[in-house]
Amino acid sequence: MKSQRSFATVPVMATLCVLSVLALTGCGKNDPGVAKTVKPTKIQLAAIEDRIKPYSMVNIEGATQVAQASAMPGEAKYASCGACHGAQGGGGVGPALAGQSAEYIANRLNQYKNGEKVGSQSNMMWAQAGMLSEADITDLADYIQTM
Ligand code: HEC
Repeated sequence: MKSQRSFATVPVMATLCVLSVLALTGCGKNDPGVAKTVKPTKIQLAAIEDRIKPYSMVNIEGATQVAQASAMPGEAKYASCGACHGAQGGGGVGPALAGQSAEYIANRLNQYKNGEKVGSQSNMMWAQAGMLSEADITDLADYIQTM
């Protein structure tokens, strides 16, 4: 008896299932959360453009600057330098690097790499620069110049 009853419920359940799916999909059409494609008129488009212009200028400028900076291989290489020279090159344990030319930075790094004494704390830079390849020095100098 028990098994017969449960067999009988199968078509009922199936019908309910289909009905609820239909009901749900039907509701979706009027759901305000579903984006509708609208075609604004030229005048409306111009008005929208006017409104967002000030913001889009800021965003576009910022975005291209960020993209340019992160496209430089020296940025990633600078990560370890930032601990002493500041994330923006403003200085800290080591002197400020921001504002120096790429040539100046590269010259200094080569001096340190060769174990030369520049200031009283050059020993702190000898180990740092000793690990740098020529390409590293060029990349770092190019990046630091932009800070
Ligand atoms: C442990 C701290 C420390 C780290 C890390 C460090 N530096 Fe330095 N840096 C110094 C100190 C201190 C000086 C000053 C050395 C001197 O007296 O000659 C210096 C000097 C320099 C100078 C010369 C600045 C000038 O005004 O002439 C450059 C260029 C430089 N560092 C680049 C780097 C780069 C690039 C990195 C990362 C690869 C780096 N430093 C990592 C501490 C550090």
